[in-house]
Amino acid sequence: MAQGWTEKGLRNRQDATDYDRFSEAVLGPWDELFLDRCAALRPSEAGTFVDVGAGTGVVLYRLSQRPVFADWTLIGLELFDDMVEAGNARFAAQGVAAEMRQGDAQALPLEDASVDMVVSRATIHHLPDKVAALREMDRVLRPGGIGLIHDARRDMPAELMQRFNAMRAKVGYLPTTLDEKLTPAEMQTLLEEAGLSDRTVLHSGNEGIAALGFEVVMRAAS
Ligand SMILES: C[S@@+](CC[C@H](N)C(=O)[O-])C[C@H]1O[C@@H](n2cnc3c(N)ncnc32)[C@H](O)[C@@H]1O
Repeated sequence: MAQGWTEKGLRNRQDATDYDRFSEAVLGPWDELFLDRCAALRPSEAGTFVDVGAGTGVVLYRLSQRPVFADWTLIGLELFDDMVEAGNARFAAQGVAAEMRQGDAQALPLEDASVDMVVSRATIHHLPDKVAALREMDRVLRPGGIGLIHDARRDMPAELMQRFNAMRAKVGYLPTTLDEKLTPAEMQTLLEEAGLSDRTVLHSGNEGIAALGFEVVMRAAS
């Protein structure tokens, strides 16, 4: 696992092999929570679904197995080539019609108003220009489209953080780096800076694993 700043401005960059191992072993319960929210919030008509900062494509793969997303076009965007390759290898091996592409969350390689649902999990805290990334998600949404962001919160309950770190330690991961994460109040300020507070709702769960993080729901004007 590579810890420290990388040439692309990230702290705690994990390579695809390490991230895949972590994702498969630890993130299942969060994946289910996130996939449930994707399913509940999705626009009624099938369309294009984009996962920004898609890692090795585990979430997209699991999404593809949900019948409600059977007719959707699934795209994952990643800054790092090894993640793109690992995700596409996963989709090919599983016979899933999803695609990983190289792309930066802060300058999405997508046309304006071309996406029906854009999501991003555990990625916003990595980005040097978070406001640009929020505006980009809004820019690519079609009228009536939905954006969804989940991330861990810096002020998560101590007991939850200890449990999360214990799960990480089991697969050889160092404790989560809290200082780079956001509080919900900081996230709300970023949404205001991005000019999106009129079409976003932010909340954080009070119990269970949902209390580890916050959620932003973005609704493009119809
Ligand atoms: C903690 S991982 C989360 C991966 C996946 N979304 C998940 O929830 O399992 C953060 C991901 O964001 C990617 N990432 C970091 N900066 C990025 C950027 N500027 N554009 C696109 N992806 C980025 C990293 O390579 C990494 O795969």
